[in-house]
Amino acid sequence: MCGIVGYIGFNEATPFLVDGMSKLEYRGYDSAGIAVFDGKRINIEKCVGRLDRLRDKIGAHVPTGTIGIGHTRWATHGRPSDQNSHPHADASGKFAVVHNGIIENYLVIKEDLIAKGHVFLSETDTEVVVHLMAELYNGDFEQTVKKVLKIIEGSYSLVFMCADAPDKLICTKKDNPLVIGLGEGENFIASDIPAIINYTRKNYILSDGEFAVVTKDSVWVEDRDGVPISKKVFEVYWDAEAAEKGGYDHFMLKEIYEQPQAVRATMSSRIAKDESTTIFNELNWVKDDLDNIKKIFIIACGTAYHAGIVGKYYIEQIAKIPVEVDIASEFRYRKPLVDESTLTIVISQSGETSDTLAALKEAKRLGARTLAVTNVVGSSIAREADQVIYTYAGPEIAVASTKAYTTQLAVMLMLAIYMGNIKNVLSSERSKELVHALHILPEQLDELLKDVTNIKEHAYRYKEAKDMFFLGRSLDYAVALEGSLKLKEISYIHAEAYAAGELKHGTLALIVEGVAVIVLATQHDVYEKTLSNIKEVKARDAEVLGIALAGDDSISKYVDHTIFIPKADKYTAPILSVLPLQIFAYYAAVARECDVDKPRNLAKSVTVE
Ligand code: F6R
Repeated sequence: MCGIVGYIGFNEATPFLVDGMSKLEYRGYDSAGIAVFDGKRINIEKCVGRLDRLRDKIGAHVPTGTIGIGHTRWATHGRPSDQNSHPHADASGKFAVVHNGIIENYLVIKEDLIAKGHVFLSETDTEVVVHLMAELYNGDFEQTVKKVLKIIEGSYSLVFMCADAPDKLICTKKDNPLVIGLGEGENFIASDIPAIINYTRKNYILSDGEFAVVTKDSVWVEDRDGVPISKKVFEVYWDAEAAEKGGYDHFMLKEIYEQPQAVRATMSSRIAKDESTTIFNELNWVKDDLDNIKKIFIIACGTAYHAGIVGKYYIEQIAKIPVEVDIASEFRYRKPLVDESTLTIVISQSGETSDTLAALKEAKRLGARTLAVTNVVGSSIAREADQVIYTYAGPEIAVASTKAYTTQLAVMLMLAIYMGNIKNVLSSERSKELVHALHILPEQLDELLKDVTNIKEHAYRYKEAKDMFFLGRSLDYAVALEGSLKLKEISYIHAEAYAAGELKHGTLALIVEGVAVIVLATQHDVYEKTLSNIKEVKARDAEVLGIALAGDDSISKYVDHTIFIPKADKYTAPILSVLPLQIFAYYAAVARECDVDKPRNLAKSVTVE
């Protein structure tokens, strides 16, 4: 996720670009840059760090010109650095490009361009776009962009400028947002409305595959087949603050709704074209690498620890390697039995959590191989680990983690399939089934999010609850842990999660008339056992809310209320069943008038022990 902006008009471009980018920092803030055409050439100013660093760098020498583009970056390919910052330009400086998304086939294109003599200055996937422009340019800016779009694969929103055509910007999008703000004698481009809301309230929202040529007085839009489109103007009535949250009341809700896209981005380029397996080019493991691993430790804190528990089920059941999951702050001091035959996987959204970083260092000291799963490119944990898998969730602003968790789960499942196939312990049929289950997951997440009224009503109904219990078996238990954490951290309702079979060993004493219990029942192999546990709590007059797969006709006979999730494979079910729990926690917190995005006593990144 990154933020992009563009301006063409009668005013100086730089003030708008910098102001617009400041409203998009929630989309990325590890580096920033602008490109402005001064009448003779395109001048680029960019640097690693927050936007303020760019402001300082520009100082009094503000690039002048009335056409320009800007970018605030959240690194995916290539660590945050001056060179990797956008905009990118070709060697002649004729073209400049800003990009949000991932060019999946960039390596093949890059090799081809290098063979043709192009010299790359960055490690980014984006730079191939601008070199392709230079390679294919025949004097016609628009035609060249169209040729480039035929070659690149992946997800993108892109804005192009060309020194030979300083009267226009060209933009397009696929699976990433882009809006065009309509002014008088000036027009604006941005990843999101907050960047332009102070300049115009009239917008065109581009759809996938649309191609727009923007001049100061006109906006020409074509569909992917080159057929002109007359776009409907979308008028924004939100205030600037609401716009930053995309019209959502809180960042947490926005991030909940971003999950289909976050999971899609995290999986993109990691699923083989024939859907037979998953691919991790960043690991490049062969059988020998895995045969040497006798045990895996997964180490993390909080929500990431819960993702680790799901990961244990995935890896043990699919790749047949024993896994232990540790809370990072415990691992450091418990003198774990780790050696060279151990692989340690640390999971961390921020990549900066002090306990996780220390545990990673300890595992390394003891001789383990280390792998980090993190959302922040170039973070301390990413730098410390031997190898890294990035989740592409984009920045998570709300303290309560949502989209980071689901993308971590997607990575753990892809990793288990990858390892299972390398080790030859996964049948090709089951591998295909699992990859297919992953493939349809973003649409299932979308479907689930289409109507959450039912979940919201339940949350409001339970808002006065003093205690809540979350139960489940197997993978449902792992998700119950996360549901309970979400509820307590943002709504301050006391919540506990139990393996459903464990309740009778003590906690059942707390189940009395009216106590609220949420039971997950999505796992077929333990379904009957879960029903028995539901009967146990119902016999004590608890009020039970069940989470079940669509098509489950029996559950309603046992519980008081049910929330259905789309029918899914047992391994993708956790990535779906956590959503109702996140939404439940969110609305319970709203109903109790809690500060959802900034819960009391908590911080987003815990960099102290
Ligand atoms: C809960 C939450 C925390 C984090 C934990 C680890 O919603 O966000 O429990 O999961 O502090 O943070 P990272 O993943 O950044 O290491």
